[in-house]
Amino acid sequence: MKRIAVLTGGGDCPGLNAVLRALTLALHQAKGPEVVGLCDAYYGLLDEPPRLMHLRPELVFEILADGGTILGTSNSGDPFSWQGENRSGEVLQRFKDLGIDGLISIGGDGSTRIAAGLMDGGLPVIAIPKTIDNDVEGTDVTFGFESALHCATDALDRLRTTGESHRRVMVLETMGRDAGWIALTSGIAGGADIIVIPEIPYDIKVIGDQIASMRGRGRSYALVVVAEGARPKDGTALFRDPENARLGGVGWALARQIEEHTGIESRATQLGHLQRGGSPSPVDRVLATSFGAAAARCVMAGQWNVMVALKEGKITTVPISEIAGKIRVVPPNHSLLMTARSLGVCMGA
Ligand code: F6P
Repeated sequence: MKRIAVLTGGGDCPGLNAVLRALTLALHQAKGPEVVGLCDAYYGLLDEPPRLMHLRPELVFEILADGGTILGTSNSGDPFSWQGENRSGEVLQRFKDLGIDGLISIGGDGSTRIAAGLMDGGLPVIAIPKTIDNDVEGTDVTFGFESALHCATDALDRLRTTGESHRRVMVLETMGRDAGWIALTSGIAGGADIIVIPEIPYDIKVIGDQIASMRGRGRSYALVVVAEGARPKDGTALFRDPENARLGGVGWALARQIEEHTGIESRATQLGHLQRGGSPSPVDRVLATSFGAAAARCVMAGQWNVMVALKEGKITTVPISEIAGKIRVVPPNHSLLMTARSLGVCMGA
């Protein structure tokens, strides 16, 4: 192979630049193919002329600690459904015209599903899993998640002191789409009293009773963390932008319901995109670098149509065909749920 492309797709997360750096440096070190970055994912490829960035060691060397992605990203340009039109044939032809022999797709479940479609169309693909949501099937963890956890845990630490001062219930809404990993893990790290995740539909009576009984035992405030995809037992998730299926708003709804139920003053904070910004944590830098280097080794070994992954502490690969289109939610028997319950943390039901 002489030339390969790389793109960052979907929502950004800390560690994208670290993975681009590692891929470029490792392929250069191995005297591998030239690496061409697609700007803004498939938007840059389909533009006339295409917007490309030649990734050379001197361009990427300093970007290890930078948040975001030097390539730009998008969570709307799906070649299989481009404003209702299937432009995947055009995308495949564009790769051929540009002399690109394979694609490294750095993304979450949506990007991996698109990559799998292009793979079925004959393009060799290697996927690298990223997202703050940590919901990619086939890997125990994605880079970006740990950095988001730092942000959410810091927010809980801050909410605790103001909540305690005012004797309020403080509700923090985290991102995560339909998976509760950020809420559950930061909830434990930040010592939340109540953790509400999409995998366990909540009962407002259970939450209200828990807060009332805490108050009865002399506890003046309560800390609640709720994942954006959480929903009540007999209801649905809330969307801040229903047309584009963007979740958000459950934190405010829950705070209102808690206040109605308990009579205790409650406040909500939506952490939003703060979770996606900033410099990657050391753990995420190492994971992103390991994934980038592993993808480069796959390229050199001719091992395509796989996703690099971390399983039981080891960097490995899984066939894309096995994981495309699936998401990884918190399983009912997960050890973090047991940990939370052992401490008497209320899981909302
Ligand atoms: O998938 C990452 C993520 O941050 C989700 O947690 C969140 O629901 C979504 O992206 C937000 O998307 P946007 O940046 O389009 O608002």
